[in-house]
Amino acid sequence: MSQIAEENITLKLVKPERCRVLYQIIKRGTPIGELALDQIAWRSGEAELKITIYEERHHSQGYGTTAILALLEEAFFRMNLRRIYLRVHASNTIAMRCYKKVGFKKEGRLERRTGGDTREIIYLMGLSKQEFLANGEGEPQAV
Ligand SMILES: CC(C)(COP(=O)(O)OP(=O)(O)OC[C@H]1O[C@@H](n2cnc3c(N)ncnc32)[C@H](O)[C@@H]1OP(=O)(O)O)[C@@H](O)C(=O)NCCC(=O)NCCS
Repeated sequence: MSQIAEENITLKLVKPERCRVLYQIIKRGTPIGELALDQIAWRSGEAELKITIYEERHHSQGYGTTAILALLEEAFFRMNLRRIYLRVHASNTIAMRCYKKVGFKKEGRLERRTGGDTREIIYLMGLSKQEFLANGEGEPQAV
């Protein structure tokens, strides 16, 4: 189970560009990872989420979930985006669980040969502002 309640996780904007914003994930003053909205399409209101928590000892502690929820608030209610999507390897069970917890749903599946009989499966997952609000997250007055 995640231990997010006691941990003080904040996002620090480090690199704002027109089509990409990059944040550091800060735990008690120390950067433990980074999070970005990439490929921001202002007209359609969509962007791709990317996240890394650097050290394995910090994985599965709820930090990813906390950081993504904070970023979604920013994306939907301050940047006024309408849909956030991401790509994830099917084998990345921690990431899949984390994304499902915050409300992302599978929207597509890409299967790629990686040599011989081996294949990798990548899911496209998405979450709209309406779904985010329907899940009880976010600021209802800002729909
Ligand atoms: C993916 C990543 C950002 C997720 O952040 P995180 O802080 O580790 O995730 P969280 O702790 O918020 O959520 C992970 C969930 O997976 C669960 N989990 C852990 N190991 C698991 C496993 N083997 N199978 C299924 N679920 C698992 C955790 O218990 C937790 O669920 P819970 O809160 O219901 O208990 C982070 O692990 C990471 O940076 N990984 C390396 C880089 C990476 O994979 N980036 C994503 C590329 S798409």
